[in-house]
Amino acid sequence: MSDSLSNTVTDDSSGQFPTGRLAADRATEAAKLDAADPLAHVRERFLLPAGVIYLDGNSLGALPAAVPEALNDAVHRQWGTDLIRSWNANDWWGAPARIGDRIGALIGAAPGRVVCGDSTSVQIFNAVAGALRLRPGRSVVLADPDSFPTDLYLADSIAKLLGAEVRRVPVGEVEEVLRADGAAIAVIAYNHVDYRSGELRDLPGLTAAAHAAGALALWDVCHSAGAFPIDLDAHDVDLAVGCGYKYLSGGPGAPAFVYVAERHIADFAPALTGWHGHANPFGMEAGYTPAPGIERARIGTPPLLSMLALEAALGAYEGVSMTDVRAKGLALTDLFIACVTDLGLQTLTPLEHARRGSQVAVCHPEPHAVMAALIDRGVIGDVRPPDVLRFGFNPLYVGYADVVESVRILGDILETGAYRDARYAVRATVT
Ligand SMILES: Cc1ncc(COP(=O)(O)O)c(C=O)c1O
Repeated sequence: MSDSLSNTVTDDSSGQFPTGRLAADRATEAAKLDAADPLAHVRERFLLPAGVIYLDGNSLGALPAAVPEALNDAVHRQWGTDLIRSWNANDWWGAPARIGDRIGALIGAAPGRVVCGDSTSVQIFNAVAGALRLRPGRSVVLADPDSFPTDLYLADSIAKLLGAEVRRVPVGEVEEVLRADGAAIAVIAYNHVDYRSGELRDLPGLTAAAHAAGALALWDVCHSAGAFPIDLDAHDVDLAVGCGYKYLSGGPGAPAFVYVAERHIADFAPALTGWHGHANPFGMEAGYTPAPGIERARIGTPPLLSMLALEAALGAYEGVSMTDVRAKGLALTDLFIACVTDLGLQTLTPLEHARRGSQVAVCHPEPHAVMAALIDRGVIGDVRPPDVLRFGFNPLYVGYADVVESVRILGDILETGAYRDARYAVRATVT
């Protein structure tokens, strides 16, 4: 992690743990913001346990209140009673495109450009292959060394299979590399939001730079889908993949999605050509003919229970303006950054709104112990190496008072040294 990303503690910080007055001022500020919050009522659409401040919805979204009932119906009526008739009677067959369109509405994609299913990793594999095939004669994939690792592993694998090359180029050097060597580059494959630092990348600018070099832009929008408007169509993005279990709150292992720009759909040739992507799946033909539309990005039988849970989860966005979601996400992260700065802590997350996602990375030399102590006190975030305490803010269910209270608890843990207790030295498998 580059030190240059770290924000230095501002002059007005005491560099100490917050005084009672400072903490009280922050609490008053938070109460005012909560009272004026146009999204405050949306929190009721989630089932959050009492005594928990959930700041990990960027990793696994909280449980939407509509999901248990939807799953109950999916299991008992659709599966238990309607049985295989559900493929038609309950339109199981249409679920990937139907749910894809609902996700599309949140990420700025017109109907028919997003299909839901499989994992993010599978979708990345298919999308990188599809991008390389859309640019014959070019064999270089530019990828960010700071990408979530699965993106790099899959790009390397598909490159090996297709005889392509993955060049790891930090996001700040992409435009220069495109100018110098653009004719070789098939696709730039970057994460929209850096999963560790929370830095938001310049999707419109880098997409335009890729196009100027004749290359495509493939974005991993795992940490932005559902967190703020993305406008994939408006920014001429070529391909995007994202997951259903973070801000979209579709549940553990929720299916992912892929977006293909309308202009590429007819030529999009994914690597994994399963029968659900066939033009005539029930013709049971021996050879593969892709479906004419976005359905060609389907692979095999989707996990219907998870699909239907995700569909119900998306109902939490009913009547919610993504512009309001963005405004609140920035206000929550502004307040959180201000509060942790009051504690004298350093953050890695950009201060500029245009460069910030909806999460904040706080540096601490003993992040695992601090996070374990926080979780014990009901504040749930997570840890990323080497020294990042990561906190995600889903504006649909996190409030301003949550922010102030979570930092008060963090301050208390640091001030008292509670995190040094031996029980916090044991590292969990999943951090
Ligand atoms: C940016 C990004 N891409 C991909 C993934 C994970 O992919 P999968 O859903 O296949 O585990 C994550 C998981 O946190 C992620 O943060």
